[in-house]
Amino acid sequence: MAAKKTPSQTKPDPRPASVETKRGRLSGKAAVITGGSSGIGFAIAQALAGEDCNVVITGRDEEKLAAAALRISSSTQQNTALILPKVCDVRDPEAIVELFVTVEAMFGRLDILVNNAGISQPPTPLEQTSLELWREQIDTNLTGVFLCTRAALPLMKRGAIIVNNLSAAAKQTFPNYYAYTAAKAGALGFTLSLRAELMPRGIRVTALLPGATDTDIWQQIMPDAPRHHMMEAESIAQAVLCAVLLPPGANLSEIVLDPAGGAL
Ligand SMILES: NC(=O)c1ccc[n+]([C@@H]2O[C@H](COP(=O)([O-])OP(=O)(O)OC[C@H]3O[C@@H](n4cnc5c(N)ncnc54)[C@H](OP(=O)(O)O)[C@@H]3O)[C@@H](O)[C@H]2O)c1
Repeated sequence: MAAKKTPSQTKPDPRPASVETKRGRLSGKAAVITGGSSGIGFAIAQALAGEDCNVVITGRDEEKLAAAALRISSSTQQNTALILPKVCDVRDPEAIVELFVTVEAMFGRLDILVNNAGISQPPTPLEQTSLELWREQIDTNLTGVFLCTRAALPLMKRGAIIVNNLSAAAKQTFPNYYAYTAAKAGALGFTLSLRAELMPRGIRVTALLPGATDTDIWQQIMPDAPRHHMMEAESIAQAVLCAVLLPPGANLSEIVLDPAGGAL
């Protein structure tokens, strides 16, 4: 399933020899951002790459992924960051193992994992909530986080960081979003357990809890939602960058962000 690309295929070096490269604050580090082809994941990938971090972005749609990688590459031409698009469905355990085999082969380690890939749903009362809808949400938004983290962990050492993009819905009550809310609340429980296990190993774990953010996911939730009142994905990415750049001794447990004026 995963497309095999080499750094030279994904980022031909367009710099003339005379252009000086800029070393960023994440120079030489390696990150995986699941669901990095659009929205919040894309913005996080772009922010990390802007600091010279090598970035692997994943998603299901190969074309969308390649276009995203190209956009990130062209915005980071002054630095040496490699941007690698890798097709990987977070519901597919074999594809996930293959993803991290590739990461190990290319970088030998992983410094930053952002479990971000996710889907949402339209409001659905319990009696109309099908088993299919339920399983889709749990498989993607909860089991996907477990599978990716389990496969990534052997590559992560002291000082590394895992950011799990959950949602305000992990804690707040949103009626009629049973499957999404259950998956995100479950992923918060997973994140808290992970944080407790990894703390003695010096691996930081942060829960990201954004409120309404202007991304394509709103087509799945409420297509006519007033997206201009929502936060921009870039704001979420700046908060994640701050968490990543904290000294390794500081372990930020949660990033909670809401639109300043209320979104809906
Ligand atoms: N936007 C908000 O208001 C908001 C608020 C709180 C939390 N969040 C969370 O933020 C995360 C990102 O969402 P977004 O708002 O940025 O939406 P988005 O623009 O729709 O991005 C979702 C990303 O996840 C990928 N994806 C979806 N299913 C996948 C799968 N099975 N395997 C691999 N990749 C998959 C998508 O790519 P493909 O479709 O190509 O697979 C895409 O790259 C989600 O976890 C969401 O729950 C969003």
